[in-house]
Amino acid sequence: EKGGFASFMDKEIHDQPQAVTDTLLGRTDIAGHLVLDDLRIDESVLRSVDKIVVIACGTAAYAGHVAKYAIEHWCRIPVEVELAHEFRYRDPVVNERTLVVAISQSGETMDTLMAVRHAREQGAKVLAICNTHGSTIPRESDAVLYTHAGPEIAVASTKAFLAQITATYVLGLYLAQLRGNLFPDEITEIFDQLRAMPDKIQIVLDRSDEVRKTAQDMVDTTSVLFLGRHVGFPVALEGALKLKELAYIHAEGFAAGELKHGPIALIEEGQAAFVIVPSPRGRHSLHSKVISNIQEIRARGARTLVIAEDGDDAVAPFADVVFSVPRCPTLLAPLLTVVPLQIFACELATVRGLDVDQPRNLAKSVTVE
Ligand code: M6R
Repeated sequence: EKGGFASFMDKEIHDQPQAVTDTLLGRTDIAGHLVLDDLRIDESVLRSVDKIVVIACGTAAYAGHVAKYAIEHWCRIPVEVELAHEFRYRDPVVNERTLVVAISQSGETMDTLMAVRHAREQGAKVLAICNTHGSTIPRESDAVLYTHAGPEIAVASTKAFLAQITATYVLGLYLAQLRGNLFPDEITEIFDQLRAMPDKIQIVLDRSDEVRKTAQDMVDTTSVLFLGRHVGFPVALEGALKLKELAYIHAEGFAAGELKHGPIALIEEGQAAFVIVPSPRGRHSLHSKVISNIQEIRARGARTLVIAEDGDDAVAPFADVVFSVPRCPTLLAPLLTVVPLQIFACELATVRGLDVDQPRNLAKSVTVE
């Protein structure tokens, strides 16, 4: 049931704090060590893994892109992310020391299933991150880490995405613990920060009025761009996908660093562009790089819709609208920054009179090639 919401999607967006909480539940023992009981892959195998390949489609693949940043940082294991339908028709370099992570909400996506089989044939161990108990992909994998988002009814994925990202963080921290890449105190600290995320997601939901109003004012928009760097890049891709599939509006996500390599030619007076700004407290001066990107597109007439951390005063002079999200560690930020983009797409589709739960031409699980 929709629980008083106008659509399943709207309800599922609001279920996200719970989805993340439930996905984190029962992952530690009394001493605070991470335990993944359902992971049936031998610890010695996991210690010897020298490469991780994430295979998935659509939104699940974007969760994999976020995972790459976190797992490489925490575990120092190279992580590749590949669309399952590309992986399965390649001659991928995988072997017994490769951990393939198949991410799928439904567990029934044909392309992902075929890629799982392809990987296992080459001797790789496959870990499924899945939301549906007993579905085909976990059954055919060596191990499974279930997300506990609950049934996702709307065709567009929302709470499953946050739960998938959360599960990959848990996996990354578990591998870091097992392989000694992080000190136990560091793992405990990050896990505590993760546990604080549901309340912060709730704060983003409580601030949704401005996003909704922005969407209502853009009912006639024909094109929206989404820009981000680092973990903000997959968030930009996901924001664009949500808008395409729900509102049938041309949308494109870019890595903001690519702007001057081509996409900036698209910017003209009035072009709407969401920009996901990293925390000013983060490493690598990424924050100032993104601020420069905002200035560059604004100088060419773009209307800038900026998602930034609370208290980030540097963005205000260059933003037409700012959507603020609570402070959190950089690697965990996608759990917050994607939420305004989900609400934006849902609201824009609604004001355009479209069926947000059942967009045209799409199926909830793609069980054919
Ligand atoms: O069930 P899966 O996670 O394997 O599905 C993968 C994609 O088909 C899915 O995420 C799709 O992109 C959604 N419509 C996105 O909202």
